[in-house]
Amino acid sequence: MTRIVSGIQATNRLHIGNYLGALRNWVDRQHGNECLMFIADLHAITLPQDPSALRRNVRELAATYVAAGIDPETVAIFAQSTVPAHVELAWILGCLTPLGWLNRMTQFKDKAGKDGADTAGMGLYGYPVLMAADVLLYHGQEVPVGDDQKQHVELMRDIALAFNRRYQQDYFTAPEPMIGGEATRVMSLRDGTKKMSKSAESDYSRINLTDDADAISQKIRKAKSDASPLPESPDELKDRPEANNLVTLYGALAGTSRAEALREFAGKSFSDFKPRLAELVVETIAPISTKVKELMADEDGIDVILRKGTERARVIADQTMDEVKAMVGF
Ligand code: TYM
Repeated sequence: MTRIVSGIQATNRLHIGNYLGALRNWVDRQHGNECLMFIADLHAITLPQDPSALRRNVRELAATYVAAGIDPETVAIFAQSTVPAHVELAWILGCLTPLGWLNRMTQFKDKAGKDGADTAGMGLYGYPVLMAADVLLYHGQEVPVGDDQKQHVELMRDIALAFNRRYQQDYFTAPEPMIGGEATRVMSLRDGTKKMSKSAESDYSRINLTDDADAISQKIRKAKSDASPLPESPDELKDRPEANNLVTLYGALAGTSRAEALREFAGKSFSDFKPRLAELVVETIAPISTKVKELMADEDGIDVILRKGTERARVIADQTMDEVKAMVGF
């Protein structure tokens, strides 16, 4: 049995990139393993959030986990902020993380912007340390994430080993990133060179897990593509980022691969391909979106799931903190 830990930030709504890069892989791995899947609300406030929107987003994310197929009886679903040990361990780990390691993190550079070094908050800078605490607190062995989080998981490994060296114990195991499936990096529907993101301005750049069938079809119809027909092999998609992204989506949703998708569509134009892709997206996403709405109608029900998840997480977290504090000398 493997201990699997991962989370998603409680900012805005989830999109199909979050689903294919992370959530769907969690669903596949939940049985036969011990899983803790949290909602990263502490990470969310590294950038300003409206408090009532944050509260709603946490519930909506919990509902989305369940709607996507995470079984709350098997998996502990909880809000990160309800287990204070995340912050406590992050402080201890922050004290042994060299600034040089944090300076290498590309996400900080992207999020902080040009003048980041002076204006970004300490939380945004320390973001990856909190991520390390999120996983090490539970002795997580596997961390299923999309490709963009690989660098952060590698840092977790370094931090785990730094702790072991500092306190001369073989205490934390270095967690492994699990980056799987055909679509580990889904790109924007408007620009195939940019990652699909929750914060991108145009809603047409992404498919939200709460979009209905009409919205999905319209977004796929309007998605940027190119004028050439679809090629025979994935290699020929190399310089066609939008085409590559749409074919990747098709392969991932059909449960096959880009190569398989191209076997079906080689020589066809996007006007043939897009309606089929839209059908597939609707088939996958529309039931999730309907279920989220159903679950959100019963806020108390969601709160019960979150509370139970917190209780389960705290049992493990408290034990880790007792052991860590003893090692540190508290
Ligand atoms: P977040 O909220 O940005 O994204 C959640 C998950 O979705 C994946 N993802 C994508 N996968 C494929 N294509 C995309 N376009 C795409 N966009 C996002 C992400 O890789 C991630 O797996 N820092 C994390 C949340 C976090 C966390 C953790 C994750 C906090 N603590 C501990 C793992 C372990 C984040 O911001 O993900």
